[in-house]
Amino acid sequence: MTPPVPTPPRPGSPAPRVHHPLFARFYARVSVSADERGGLGALREELLSGLTGRVIEIGAGNGLNFARYPAGVTEVVAVEPEPRLRRLAEEAGRRAAVPVTVLPGMAEALPAEGGAFDAAVASLVLCTVRSVPEVLAELRRVLRPGGELRFFEHCVAGTPGLARVQRGLDRTVWPLLFGGCHTSRAPLAAIEEAGFTLVSYRAFDLPENGPRLPTSPCVLGVARR
Ligand SMILES: C[S@@+](CC[C@H](N)C(=O)[O-])C[C@H]1O[C@@H](n2cnc3c(N)ncnc32)[C@H](O)[C@@H]1O
Repeated sequence: MTPPVPTPPRPGSPAPRVHHPLFARFYARVSVSADERGGLGALREELLSGLTGRVIEIGAGNGLNFARYPAGVTEVVAVEPEPRLRRLAEEAGRRAAVPVTVLPGMAEALPAEGGAFDAAVASLVLCTVRSVPEVLAELRRVLRPGGELRFFEHCVAGTPGLARVQRGLDRTVWPLLFGGCHTSRAPLAAIEEAGFTLVSYRAFDLPENGPRLPTSPCVLGVARR
């Protein structure tokens, strides 16, 4: 097992912080009930199905994916910058059936060597990171050639009305209320622009039969480095 190698901070730049105590409390509650009652648990199973080898997960939150990694996964290295969520992720990691190491850090500067992972997992996180291109470049760096990126993200709507609402929310209250989340990002285009090849994905609304929320349009799929 190769231990993760911390990436040194860029010279002269203060260490970036993610500290959202109110959002962290809120997310720790609603994410569990969304998994159990809102169908997210089944989507996490789909996201992680068939993974093998060493996996890096970015922005792991309270670690809800950990219990769902298949037995073929030999190690999960999870990066989570928010202190409260990271503590919950560490607890979830101890309960998981596969070995999980939770590290502090930002997905824009992953504490890992190049080519060290067979797969990377991003669930509900590209909406929140500071720089999607930097994060995807980091994921390409730490994945081996042919390694998989598994993603489950909410995204910009295909309908102009909701897309306009999403852009308005992103410029105003949404990131402030929801820990830096943006509703109008376009993860599929960003993944391709970063040089990944889309292998398969599906687009759907969450909830599938219910009110159409700013976070309803979702994509779940696989891209290859
Ligand atoms: C909506 S939560 C999703 C958590 C988890 N991935 C899940 O599927 O439930 C977004 C997570 O991204 C984390 N995050 C925010 N900025 C980040 C960054 N730059 N790098 C890595 N994680 C980040 C947050 O602390 C939070 O845990």
